[in-house]
Amino acid sequence: MSSKRALITGITGQDGAYLAQLLLQKGYSVHGLVRRSSHAGVFDHRLKWLGCAADVRLHDGNLLDLSSILRLVQEVQPDEVYNLAAQSFVTASWQQPLLTGQITGLGAVNILESVRTICPQARFYQASSSEMFGLIQETVQSENTPFYPRSPYGVAKLYAHWMTINYRESFGLHASNGILFNHESPLRGVEFVTRKVTDGVARIKLGMAKELRLGNIDAKRDWGHARDYVKAMWLMLQQDQPDDYVVATGRTTTVRAMCEIAFRHVGLNIDDHLVIDPALFRPAEVDVLLGNPAKAQSVLGWQPETPLEAMIEEMVTADLERLRRAV
Ligand code: NAP
Ligand code: GDD
Repeated sequence: MSSKRALITGITGQDGAYLAQLLLQKGYSVHGLVRRSSHAGVFDHRLKWLGCAADVRLHDGNLLDLSSILRLVQEVQPDEVYNLAAQSFVTASWQQPLLTGQITGLGAVNILESVRTICPQARFYQASSSEMFGLIQETVQSENTPFYPRSPYGVAKLYAHWMTINYRESFGLHASNGILFNHESPLRGVEFVTRKVTDGVARIKLGMAKELRLGNIDAKRDWGHARDYVKAMWLMLQQDQPDDYVVATGRTTTVRAMCEIAFRHVGLNIDDHLVIDPALFRPAEVDVLLGNPAKAQSVLGWQPETPLEAMIEEMVTADLERLRRAV
């Protein structure tokens, strides 16, 4: 077992919770950054769901506040730092482009600066994104595919991505980017399309709703499971050399086909309930994403373990249970 200390920003989010669970299983002492909100008591619901809330140490601060990040890094003296905090919802990034730039872009530099200043020997992971490929320049995207972001979120992630590379090259930090394609789970925020679908289907099944309103159902995504993807994050920081890796399944599916899996799982017909709402279309769309995880497979020994069908069924089942408990 390890006696290493890990610091996770974004520990209250989907990936932060799964990563905390993985690192605790490996014997790490796990520290997380939590921003203050008025939602005391519910901010750690994902960690509770995974049964690890009592085992992590949470620290108040904000990625936007360099002073709080400096103090946090000084106090924790981490061996590994995972920067997962972000304004991560693409749609919101058109409504709040400046805030998205500050958190998702500049926020990464606040933590890079803190690591460089206080513990330059620590290993650093940056949560980069397939959204950076945007208007795809190659049918299958790899580490060598040129980027063409299509949202303020994608542009902000690209800045953080290149700053991570810059700190690696300028200061010799062990800093790696994981270019992760979409990954989901029962802990996914309900604003993202998979969870919106699984929650919506569960509500229709339980008689709590009649329709499910979606936008562009022709968009295609390469969807994997968050539980599998956090393993790749950890593996990147165990390598002798820092580097950048695409993490994906190598299979792409339309939103409509993903939706059909959810409806089929509860014995309902998608065409009886799905409503297309033009208001949900985006100002600029990423039509298709399909990743090539060959480098992660050969160098890290990483494999996606959960097929889309199994993941969507797991999510629908979890939403049914959640909703039944709530009534
Ligand atoms: P998520 O569920 O939206 O979690 C985002 C986390 O960031 C939350 O813990 C949130 O805290 C925190 N955060 C936001 N602003 C902050 C601030 N100013 N200071 C401190 N913390 C702040 O996202 P996720 O799906 O777990 O994704 C994790 C990371 O991977 C994100 O950077 C995301 O952009 C990136 N990514 C995700 C995917 C994916 O498909 N899931 C793919 C590629 C990259 P609150 O709980 O207070 O909101
Ligand atoms: N959210 C949402 N809601 N998306 C919809 C809807 C809807 O009602 N209807 C159709 N979609 C389409 C979107 O237009 C998009 O093409 C696709 O479903 C996926 O949308 P999201 O689930 O919101 O994810 P995303 O691909 O925009 O972004 C996620 O993946 C990125 C990696 O590629 C987020 O997790 C990002 O943080 C992440 O970086």
